[in-house]
Amino acid sequence: MNRRKFLKASTIAATAPLILTKFNLFGADAPSNKLNLALIGAYGRATAHYDGLATQNVIAICDVDSKHLDLAQQKFPGAKRYADWRECIDHNGLDGVVICTPDHSHALITMWALNRNLHVYCEKPLANTIEEARLIRATYLQKKNTLATQVGTQRHAFPNFNRVRELVLDGAIGQLEEACAWGNRQLRKPGYLPAAGEPPANLNYDLWLGPSPLHPYNPDYFSGGTAMNCLQWNMYWDFGNGQVGDMGSHTMDLVWNAIDAAPPTSAEAKGEPFNAEVSPVELTTHFQHPANAWRPAMKVSWYQGGAMPDSPSKWVDLKKIDHGAMFTGTQGYLICDFEKRLVIPLGNHSDMTYFKPRAEKDLIPSMKGFQQEWFAACKGNLKTSCNFDYAGLMIEQMLLGLVAYKAGGKIEYDAATGRVTNNDKANEYLRREYRQGWKLQG
Ligand SMILES: NC(=O)c1ccc[n+]([C@@H]2O[C@H](COP(=O)([O-])OP(=O)(O)OC[C@H]3O[C@@H](n4cnc5c(N)ncnc54)[C@H](O)[C@@H]3O)[C@@H](O)[C@H]2O)c1
Repeated sequence: MNRRKFLKASTIAATAPLILTKFNLFGADAPSNKLNLALIGAYGRATAHYDGLATQNVIAICDVDSKHLDLAQQKFPGAKRYADWRECIDHNGLDGVVICTPDHSHALITMWALNRNLHVYCEKPLANTIEEARLIRATYLQKKNTLATQVGTQRHAFPNFNRVRELVLDGAIGQLEEACAWGNRQLRKPGYLPAAGEPPANLNYDLWLGPSPLHPYNPDYFSGGTAMNCLQWNMYWDFGNGQVGDMGSHTMDLVWNAIDAAPPTSAEAKGEPFNAEVSPVELTTHFQHPANAWRPAMKVSWYQGGAMPDSPSKWVDLKKIDHGAMFTGTQGYLICDFEKRLVIPLGNHSDMTYFKPRAEKDLIPSMKGFQQEWFAACKGNLKTSCNFDYAGLMIEQMLLGLVAYKAGGKIEYDAATGRVTNNDKANEYLRREYRQGWKLQG
């Protein structure tokens, strides 16, 4: 039995009282009960994971910046160092990987890890193209009985996510008809940065570019400060998808968690004029989602960069919520941000008799820690809230909005084949070319 199978078997066995397990024998902190993990992208956002990861065995760290490796090594002194994730991922004895690199490498590292049967925690956004999102989700679905996956939308652990879902399902606004999410972050960039000097000796800039086309080095891509540096590069198409992948991953999660959606059947978008180098600041996208067992077909919208939905009432100023969501039902509105919610019954008929709040015992249980949920999943229960099925579908939807934006009109989407059916040109925007030597599957 290999180590991963043993970890899994021991956790399952822990629920069977008569079987003596490693867990029972040595306790949760025993070295043999810990996951062997690689941290890829070892500084910046990764620092938010350090304390949690220190409860496991971080046996490999990988970063294209040797100074960042030095800093990570202080936390994980025994870990082997790598600059190239394609080598790190084959480090002997790994159970899983935690990916905190820039967005343009997420899908590749994730696919290579899944192909090696490694558990994966990947920072948001999971993918930069529809092709990437679909391949990751399909691969995960084939392996979901053995692999644990989580996308780093850690706000999902806030109790408000569960409370919003309960209010929608229990009918606090009547029958759900429509939902939207918005974010007001605005990072305006004119275009790729001009060449400015040589990369410092500590930075392997070629590996940083990875699968993306060559762009000259400019220190401004690296000037953002710890855990904020993503804002220096995520607006450029070759490195990110602007707010769709950035705050959009968190904020659409408020809606996604409450609507049990299948992929959209259409998308339309409008925003500022298309810029071939930089993703739009202002953008509005509308999606049509099919009906499910508990609600009719519905419209879902995403607004960013100053674009906003109409307020349901002059008493409510939605602009006071930087990153929020609104659900529209036959009887009223539910407005929320990540931590708070507000139900507004509207109209004389909205007397709340239709709302059947659940008993306390039926409240959706708290997940008790987002990273911990993934650790426990890797060790055997395989249950994560933002696995690559859930989060893969959500980013597929959001990215389809950008396809519609680039196509400049309403697109019809066949989720079974992953193709746009009414606009051939739009199908070109479903994928990207990787630089020579880099591939999505490895
Ligand atoms: N969940 C959240 O709330 C949250 C918050 C901030 C950032 N993020 C996400 O985390 C990721 C990293 O963001 P950041 O601000 O830390 O960015 P960053 O530019 O600081 O990069 C993070 C680290 O990855 C290293 N790196 C870059 N390319 C690499 C490669 N190919 N292989 C290995 N290491 C590489 C960098 O040197 C750096 O140490 C982004 O995808 C971002 O969206 C998530």
